[in-house]
Amino acid sequence: MTPKVAIIGAGNVGAEVARRLAEKELADVVLVDIIEGIPQGKALDMLQAGPVVGYNSQIHGTNDFSEIQDSQIVVVTAGLARKPGMSRDDLLKKNAQITKSVIENIKKFAPESIILMVTNPLDTMTYVAWKASGFPEKRVLGMAPLLDLARMATFIALELKVPVTSVSAMVLGTHGDLMIPVVSQTAVSGKPITELLSKEKIDQIVERTRGGGAEIVSYLKTGSAYYAPSACAAYMVESMLKDKQEIIVASVFADGEYGLKDLYIGLPAKIGKNGVEGIVEIALTDKEKVALEQSATAIKENNKKCEKL
Ligand code: APR
Repeated sequence: MTPKVAIIGAGNVGAEVARRLAEKELADVVLVDIIEGIPQGKALDMLQAGPVVGYNSQIHGTNDFSEIQDSQIVVVTAGLARKPGMSRDDLLKKNAQITKSVIENIKKFAPESIILMVTNPLDTMTYVAWKASGFPEKRVLGMAPLLDLARMATFIALELKVPVTSVSAMVLGTHGDLMIPVVSQTAVSGKPITELLSKEKIDQIVERTRGGGAEIVSYLKTGSAYYAPSACAAYMVESMLKDKQEIIVASVFADGEYGLKDLYIGLPAKIGKNGVEGIVEIALTDKEKVALEQSATAIKENNKKCEKL
């Protein structure tokens, strides 16, 4: 039977995830949004690309959450983008409320699904989703660390003029100012990055990676990135549907690993048909360990702000 994947939020990221899944015939897709007409129109438009692109996937748009029934995976992209005058805290609370209402519906209509969070601020929204769902930790995870890794790999490939596929990068921690591009674990065709680039160049790449999202927003002005975010979400969906057991950096629930507890944070994890199959511990330098703790503290502060909403 063709797997079914639901995508909540038919905006830029949600619609692109739908298109990518359909084009690879990975699943039949249900696209849900609260705005009437948007998911229906986008889904129908994508369906009509099938005959020329050559895919038979079903794509259905709806405002009715009950249609997510029997979805193996639910990708949550519903949320607000930060508007002028809106503080980070306002956005945090608003998106936490949206996430909670979306999760209520997932709990009701797709209680056996895996929830893949995309909505920002990612680590806290994943925590909110986990708490609100009551799902086991392994069935809730977040996408953004893979995006940060992809950005770091891109910048290295651009700098060294090598194929992106030869770059093996690593980013841990929070999807935000305190993310940790892990230089000690980054290599090109097996050669440590520290042997290929000067410290100054590496520092620049680290900073550009940290500001990767903001750089795109500064160009787009009216929205945020969606091509790379949707590619990462679709990649993770594929890994789960095909039970690849691949190690992917994701926002996962830490229960003692890396000395961290009771939070979702970016760590390398084995991803398969059950969601997060296990967290993988890699060697970090003392500096990277401290940075990971700082990242965790920042995430926990945000988690706390969402507790009473
Ligand atoms: N239920 C369903 N859909 C909702 C809800 C809800 N309760 N609330 C908002 N939405 C929808 C909006 O109507 C909109 O269509 O979520 C969609 C969000 O789309 P965009 O504004 O285009 O945002 P997008 O660029 O897709 O980003 C979505 O992903 O990468 C993150 O930071 C980004 O948090 C943001 C999210």
